[in-house]
Amino acid sequence: MLSQAKLKVAIQSKSGEATFDCAPGERLLFAGLASGLQLPFECATGTCGTCRGRVMEGSATSAWPEAPGAAKLKADRGDVLLCQTHAASDCVVRVAANVTSADQGAAPMRREARIARVERLTPDVMHIEIDVATPMTFAAGQFVVIDVPGIAGGRAYSMVNHGSELSRLLFVIKRKPGGAFGDWLFGGDVTGGELSMFGPLGRAVWRPDEARDILAIAGGSGIAGIMSILHHATEAGHFARHRGNVFFGVRTLADAFYVSELSRYVEKAGGNLEVTLALSHEGVPDGAKADRLHLAHGFVHDVARSAMAGRYGDLTAFLAGPGPMVDGAIRMLLTDGGLRPDRIRYDKFG
Ligand code: FES
Repeated sequence: MLSQAKLKVAIQSKSGEATFDCAPGERLLFAGLASGLQLPFECATGTCGTCRGRVMEGSATSAWPEAPGAAKLKADRGDVLLCQTHAASDCVVRVAANVTSADQGAAPMRREARIARVERLTPDVMHIEIDVATPMTFAAGQFVVIDVPGIAGGRAYSMVNHGSELSRLLFVIKRKPGGAFGDWLFGGDVTGGELSMFGPLGRAVWRPDEARDILAIAGGSGIAGIMSILHHATEAGHFARHRGNVFFGVRTLADAFYVSELSRYVEKAGGNLEVTLALSHEGVPDGAKADRLHLAHGFVHDVARSAMAGRYGDLTAFLAGPGPMVDGAIRMLLTDGGLRPDRIRYDKFG
């Protein structure tokens, strides 16, 4: 997909200057991360503005000038979003952060991929299995940015699975109104469709050596990364020694998915895992359940606030879903929960 002729990019930061090669057509952020540099980013898809830099020499072009994260950039001064910008020549880019080299693990990279299987879970939620040409190792909770030829901008999705050297990655994708990617995905049979992805990315990961309870708050397809964490924690026997509380927000019970999979995790945890479906647009009778899941009415962070009052203890919280939901949950955990910021993990994309 990308040409072989590489351009030289120099990053000037508070840590000094570092250089990397960038294939024409690749985004500066991804080329830098693939070279092992820890460039600043959060969403990797143009919405948050965290990856801003300023082109000091050479030229670069934006793949998505209208990106929400670009709203506060001074384009006339050369400001760019690294996650949306291609080098048009060798260039020098200044970043107002420390930029050091990654000290462990394999650097993320671009992979060619093909859709192997799709399954509609609800009218607007799809389970997708994607085969990658180069196997990938990733932790529970990580995500990739997927690019489909002919559709501008990448989309970030967490993997539902996790593991070492996997050739098949599993995703759950919720259709967003007016989205070109969703229109393509839901508009016909995309099995066999070719795409590329960059990753793995993300810091909201769980590892089995963490001896703490787990609290997870997810909205919509944000449950993907939480499913991966639950799978890994169950596999590692984590719930024999620690508790887990999961709150999964959807509009109505008909919009819920993974109910039987979540119920199986609850069953295997022998009483140490509680999962609550928070229905924002449907009333719920007292004590109602769906399989082994509790049902509650309200927005997911409000439901979590009520259910967790006085029960936080020693835990790590994982948040995943739309930005406003994640923001609301962070505020709730810091104020009501009294959690330290380093106990709250999330990757804001969407
Ligand atoms: Fe680039 Fe969020 S806008 S990382």
